[in-house]
Amino acid sequence: MMKTDVLPVDAASLARAASLLRAGELTAFPTETVYGLGANALDAEAVLKIFVAKERPADNPLIAHVDDEAMMAPLVEEINGLTRALMEAFWPGPLTLVLPRTRRVPDIVAAGLSTVGVRMPAHPDARAVIRAAGVPVAAPSANRSGRPSPTTAQHVLADMQGRIELILDGGPSGLGVESTVLDVTEKVPVVLRPGGITVERLRQVAPQTRVDPAVLLPLKEGGTARSPGMKHRHYAPLAQVLVVRGERLRMASLLCARYDEALRYGQMPAILCRAQNASLYAGRRVKIAGENAADMAAHLFDALRGLDAQGVTLILAEGVDTEEMGLAYMNRLLRAANFEVVQA
Ligand code: TXA
Ligand code: MG
Repeated sequence: MMKTDVLPVDAASLARAASLLRAGELTAFPTETVYGLGANALDAEAVLKIFVAKERPADNPLIAHVDDEAMMAPLVEEINGLTRALMEAFWPGPLTLVLPRTRRVPDIVAAGLSTVGVRMPAHPDARAVIRAAGVPVAAPSANRSGRPSPTTAQHVLADMQGRIELILDGGPSGLGVESTVLDVTEKVPVVLRPGGITVERLRQVAPQTRVDPAVLLPLKEGGTARSPGMKHRHYAPLAQVLVVRGERLRMASLLCARYDEALRYGQMPAILCRAQNASLYAGRRVKIAGENAADMAAHLFDALRGLDAQGVTLILAEGVDTEEMGLAYMNRLLRAANFEVVQA
């Protein structure tokens, strides 16, 4: 088994990360969204190692991360006016733009699609890694496929120990939820995955922006996803997850009823809630996700991993409104719950 080093980000660890990437190897690194598992995006053999380490299905494409616009040249055919406006408004930052790709992008990066997702991250450590490597860096979230995305170096280690050589530790991710994936290959931009840049903000620049219905719904049997990632089981803790939606007090009383019933059946339940609602669940095991949707999104993945570590077998989670960061929160939570949701 390979030895996995977790190192703070400094000149020496950055140089090692860059030389691993140039040699066709992997390195995990922090970004402002979640930790990424990187490989040289122009090297098909290197990218294959990502799929092996993550046990990722081959039909799920990767995002290429760049440090500057010049790095996009080998990836995309052209940058039109709308794309440029979005880049100017939201880069560097948590927005991935899906664009028509060149033939230089290895098929494995694009999972056979004619497009490629490109993002310029805002995190200085992520930028330093890409700049030092001197190549676009293909990087999915650095979790094993299906597990909650990693928001700390320790989460990455838990999933990747023995599978990769290096994890750069830049502390907890600020946003804690992945980038927004926006398809700009047609006239009307389509949000394929809600994330760090909200739909409301995108509409300030591109007012016609639509949201793919698959964002909040399970894919129908045999249906095809515009974003292949949407059809795979995602973000799942070991515990079962049930989401309860509805008016605050009704939601709380249904959550309490489900909790008490689960206890009687010998389960170990916990309630995942907004800080202001914790008092409604007095005497029960409670995990506070945060005070508002952005805060809750930032802590969701850590909360799911933490509840697993406590031995919790059933996570009863409050739903939130799907405005602003609430859309990204519910997108992740519903997938973690395998779309098990009840209305109070
Ligand atoms: O914030 C993020 O985006 C993080 C950090 C590391 O940058 N990366 C990340 O990558 O979340 P990953 O691989 O876990 O998720 C990428 C998502 C998947 O749902 C994938 O299907 C979609 O983006 N995607 C990537 N390329 C695509 C393409 N060409 N067309 C449609 N969807 C694409
Ligand atoms: Mg992922």
